[in-house]
Amino acid sequence: MSDISRRKFLQTTSASALLLFSGLGRESQAASVQSYPSKKIGNIKNLKVNEPLAFNYPDNNSPCVLVNVGKEASGGIGQGKSVVSFSTRCTHMGCPLTYNNGRLVCKCHYSMFDVSRNGQTYQGLASQWVAQVVLRLDAATGNIYAEGVEGLIYGRIGNLKLS
Ligand code: FES
Repeated sequence: MSDISRRKFLQTTSASALLLFSGLGRESQAASVQSYPSKKIGNIKNLKVNEPLAFNYPDNNSPCVLVNVGKEASGGIGQGKSVVSFSTRCTHMGCPLTYNNGRLVCKCHYSMFDVSRNGQTYQGLASQWVAQVVLRLDAATGNIYAEGVEGLIYGRIGNLKLS
């Protein structure tokens, strides 16, 4: 292999690796949005900023949280687009996540996920973003419905499997 072709090979593989690793976030999971039967999980009038509401979705083995983060958030609903919802299973090894002032925090190995940015991981051992629940707001009643999940819920080979 000549120097030029070796250089071109390295540039190509480096660019490919960059693309691969930059795709580890939600961008690569965009195609993994899975619809589920609609479930009423709360009412926007009852939500207070930074006071999370726990529920299970899409089945009873999948704990989630609904929260108004008090500022615009990716995938948020409501007047300020500030109401979001996530799985509360850590993507590292499945430990429970707790909501704390705009973050989902894992006490097992201290991973943290940004709930304003689609559950992006920014600290700790978890490399995958936490699964985000797709929400719908009924403007007439204020009821909030879960209608799908974006990203893989920890412990499942795919979100098509309900248990
Ligand atoms: S299980 Fe959450 S960081 Fe390890």
